[in-house]
Amino acid sequence: MGIQYDKDAGIFQIDTRSTTYLIGIADGKYVGHIYYGKKIGDCRGAQRLMRTGEHPFVPSENLREKCRFMDNFPWEYAGWGTGDYRESSIQVRTMEGYSACELYYDSYEILREKTGLKGLPATFAKEEGTAWTLNIICRDKCIGLKVILSYSIFDDNDGIMRSVRLVNEGDAPLYIDRVLSASWDMDNEAFEMLSLTGAWARERHMTRCPVTYGRHVISSIRGESSHQENPFMALLTPGTDQEKGQVYAMNFIYSGNFLAVAQASQYDSVRMAMGIHPEGFCWKLMPGEDFQAPEVVCVYSDEGLGKMTRTFHDLYREHLIRSPYVHKDRPVLINNWEATYFNFNTEKLVDIAKEAKACGIEMLVMDDGWFGKRNDDNSSLGDWTVNEEKLPGGLKNLVDQVKAQGLKFGIWVEPEMVSPDSDLYRAHPDWAIQIPGRAPGLMRAQLVLDLSRPEVVEYVWESISAVLNSADISYVKWDMNRQLCDLGSACLPPDRQGELMHRYVLGVYELLERLITQFPHLLLENCSGGGGRFDGGMLYYSPQIWCSDDTDAVERLAIQEGTALVYPLSCMGAHVSDCPNHALGRVTPFTTRGHVALAGTFGYELDITKISQADRDEIKEQTKLYHKYHPLVREGDYYRIASWHENHLYDCWQVVSKDRTETLVTYVQVLSQISFRSRRLRLQGLDPRGLYQLEDTDEIYSGEWLMNGGFLVQRPFGDFISRLYHFIKVG
Ligand code: GLA
Repeated sequence: MGIQYDKDAGIFQIDTRSTTYLIGIADGKYVGHIYYGKKIGDCRGAQRLMRTGEHPFVPSENLREKCRFMDNFPWEYAGWGTGDYRESSIQVRTMEGYSACELYYDSYEILREKTGLKGLPATFAKEEGTAWTLNIICRDKCIGLKVILSYSIFDDNDGIMRSVRLVNEGDAPLYIDRVLSASWDMDNEAFEMLSLTGAWARERHMTRCPVTYGRHVISSIRGESSHQENPFMALLTPGTDQEKGQVYAMNFIYSGNFLAVAQASQYDSVRMAMGIHPEGFCWKLMPGEDFQAPEVVCVYSDEGLGKMTRTFHDLYREHLIRSPYVHKDRPVLINNWEATYFNFNTEKLVDIAKEAKACGIEMLVMDDGWFGKRNDDNSSLGDWTVNEEKLPGGLKNLVDQVKAQGLKFGIWVEPEMVSPDSDLYRAHPDWAIQIPGRAPGLMRAQLVLDLSRPEVVEYVWESISAVLNSADISYVKWDMNRQLCDLGSACLPPDRQGELMHRYVLGVYELLERLITQFPHLLLENCSGGGGRFDGGMLYYSPQIWCSDDTDAVERLAIQEGTALVYPLSCMGAHVSDCPNHALGRVTPFTTRGHVALAGTFGYELDITKISQADRDEIKEQTKLYHKYHPLVREGDYYRIASWHENHLYDCWQVVSKDRTETLVTYVQVLSQISFRSRRLRLQGLDPRGLYQLEDTDEIYSGEWLMNGGFLVQRPFGDFISRLYHFIKVG
């Protein structure tokens, strides 16, 4: 474990628990990527992988072919406009309009800590002396630019965190047109690219494609990380599955526009890079100022996707999610959105609370529609005052009544938005993001507040904190229901309009930072039209994120499989809703809906006063199951056993406790088949020498047998039927 510099070889060596990352200095000034992979004790000779002894050689030996060198050297962070024609990491323009950038190695520092990133979410160490950071300082003296490439690791995890800081050391302003956070060049190994793609209500489906010659891009220019493409990319060697194959993954700790690129180019090299999307981005950096680019988490696995997943899960649970709830059971909640939509009042909510309490539910969440005159989605965003026609006596009266039923209370807000039909917009039309003279495009009849403006951030803070101070509120669902366009800020000068998207994200982070520091006991759930902002940036502030507006148990299998590929189960907002499902009309058994939601934070999204007595009785059982299994689901190691998304028949996942004394297997038969015998499932992650008993039976298996021989699942009669199998170690 640790980071060291071999001065003679000019190699920085970063060792995590089971990986090694090597950076070399070629020709005394070029920072090259040598190796990322399985841990290697003795890396003697490694610098040869930079191939500086081959044609076209380094510039000090062959200046006449310097540009060719630039175009095939394996860069650790790629410059722009000086001969490398591949995807650049950085473009900085001078006042004269020149934008070439060539970075030379200057110096380094190795620290026994992990520092935070100014204004941005980032991973952190829990204790002193458990993290390492390498800062490689580079300069382009022609333009007075200092670039600090940072690499951090934690003693207990394999992730490597990269970020970049730019400092203007000159005496004239610079324009940053592009600044990615991480990049490296590798030899091509017939890689496949894996990403998480989708749409509203169909988020994060796993998508694989071959990396053929050219650029393969995953990105968002929507102002949020997006439903469509998640800021995650992995390159896989051929044949990679859950248990085998090499995986190189990047995940962005950022909630706005992003770019992830895999570029296969001449000489059979592949560049992988990630950072803020340069499209529409331009940041003016004054002399003496710095710019901090967000963090990319890099994970390598030589044991397939499963190990990659567990590395991300451990890293995020231990080093990213700050909330005091990260290692706690969350209250089982009932949310009134699918129960009532906008049509509710105090009486209705209290009725729901009363029935919910009788079934073991612990918190009522009042969703959209409680403020201004919002009886549909056409108005009132921005006017965060209680609608007393619906809630006479205000929030406090309602909350007191809900609490009297024995439930906690949670509330929905959408603070980043403004409806054109609102008092806020009528008073401050210039507070909305829009371009003068151009009618702004609406989405869900709303506009986005310009959070690059401190006074707008202040207004949002004042109004939301006033709501939170007005009653005993335990939970907030922070929603964001449209993406950004018509990018114009009434306050930014012309040459700073390109800063708007990033400044907007910084404004959101500032609000969330204030929220969790001033209301430390609040349970925060992030949401964006379902799962439009499911990213590491948000996890820093909120321990859970609403996964998708699609609550259908079958659709959720693919959504939750893709989500759990990177993000821990403990943060996956998952609820049981009513049938026929409101998003797509499917009818599934209540039990299956419960089992699927148990993989996440768990709750209900239905009118409990209207469902059958049988379903209500089942809620009593499900809430008990939640408390029984949640510590395991929340803290355990996750294994993907089978994927309905791939096989179109059945789904299966498993969680194993860290001490391997118990495991919970969830099996969903999506489609029934005839003339087949029982199905064999092989488990993973158990103690091979342990003995495991299937709960409520006398069946005992060795761990070794369950992982190799497996156990048999009898095929239920019918579609959409699920089973839970809980094995407990007995010897
Ligand atoms: C978004 C959320 C839903 C609900 C509605 C309310 O779509 O994802 O859960 O809160 O907004 O308008």
